Amino acid sequence: MQAGAGKFGFERSRLLHEASKKVIPGGVNSNIRLGERPHPIFFESGEGPYLYDVDGNRLIDYVMGQGPMLLGHRPGFVVEAVEAQLAKGILYGAQHELEVEAARLVTRMVPSAEAVRFNMTGTEAVQAALRIARAAAGRDLVLKFEGHYHGWADSMLFNTGSPSEPGSDGLGVAPVPESSGIASGAGAPLIVAPWNDAEALARILSDRGGSIAAVIMEPVMANSGVVEPVDGYLEAVRRLCDDHGIVLIFDEVITGFRAGLGGAQGRYGVTPDLTTMGKAMASGFPVGCVAGRRDLMEDIGTGAITHAGTFNASPISMAAARVTLEHLYAGGEEWYARLENRGRRLMRGLREVISGRGVPCLVQGLPTIFNLMFTDRREVRSHRDVLTTDRAMRTAFLPFLMEDGVRISGLGNLFLSDAHTEAVIDETVERFDSALRTFGSAS
Ligand SMILES: Cc1ncc(COP(=O)(O)O)c(C=O)c1O
Repeated sequence: MQAGAGKFGFERSRLLHEASKKVIPGGVNSNIRLGERPHPIFFESGEGPYLYDVDGNRLIDYVMGQGPMLLGHRPGFVVEAVEAQLAKGILYGAQHELEVEAARLVTRMVPSAEAVRFNMTGTEAVQAALRIARAAAGRDLVLKFEGHYHGWADSMLFNTGSPSEPGSDGLGVAPVPESSGIASGAGAPLIVAPWNDAEALARILSDRGGSIAAVIMEPVMANSGVVEPVDGYLEAVRRLCDDHGIVLIFDEVITGFRAGLGGAQGRYGVTPDLTTMGKAMASGFPVGCVAGRRDLMEDIGTGAITHAGTFNASPISMAAARVTLEHLYAGGEEWYARLENRGRRLMRGLREVISGRGVPCLVQGLPTIFNLMFTDRREVRSHRDVLTTDRAMRTAFLPFLMEDGVRISGLGNLFLSDAHTEAVIDETVERFDSALRTFGSAS
């Protein structure tokens, strides 16, 4: 069924999901996909802003692979670059020029990036960054923030979604593991703090700063709402880290190359010591990287810090990364300005139909990634604020949106791509309005 031909059905996907559950726990291979409504969908292809599913639906996609597809699904020149590399070789387990070219591009675009090490995922990049920071500082503790997600490894899978309780010292937040099976000691070297609150951080650091190796954050909290740092916050964190000899890590796995040419650090003008990136860097091919100050990164080069991986900087991923980064670098600020204009058009359009239907729904974030929250609030500033929004209502709304042919993430995020033209955006707004109408009359 093509867009415009009425409500979409997902029966074949439902049956495939039922069958899949017999061999794949939950019928998905990443738990975030359990959040898809009405159920996990099976897709056959993707092109531009669209995904085509096994029921013959063409969905306007705003999940975009959970962020990587900044240039849309299957951008032609990326496919060509990968095909050219496939004709030459798949994996060498050794060096090749593409990785040097991709690394040079990262260092040109990202303010903190003097040196770069590639791997396959954001999760690994974060683990590498933590190891580098601990080695440099000669300290063990790491401070993270509630609501921030840094991958699924034991060391970081704490306080990503759960409500927070005060810590036993009355300063921070009690670490809460977000999965069963996490080693009981994994939370021991962790301090969890509220984000966007410089005074709270200053209090914690004045007490324990001398034992903390690293402060890690998403510079825009994009895994719990999409919340920008309040004015002066990143600067204050930078100062506090300097005062206490702490390595500041920005996890830009989502915001890297999405929040702007230089990521969130470029956007807000605050440079961390280390940065982790991935997702949008290679148009959907697996890649992650840790980048940062040369003096911190150097010990990986000597072998004193172990960083390894069979598939790291695979020629296929690097071929995709090189042309993606070249494209973004050549497009420069103007390319991002055009993309952001379209994002603003979408945010404005959604706000108008939301207000027209009198629904308490907040559209908040950056033009290239924003979030829908059912709430009367006019702004959400923290993870605790996000927890006051009606997440059950958003989950209930998702199938209505899907039936009108628009796909957003289970967490309510919309990822914009260059393939979302003004016409696609205007169609999205119409479809969103139709979904709101049906949702309103059903609830
Ligand atoms: C901010 C952030 N860091 C790290 C990760 C982990 O990246 P990956 O899923 O590639 O392991 C994610 C994934 O969504 C993320 O959003």
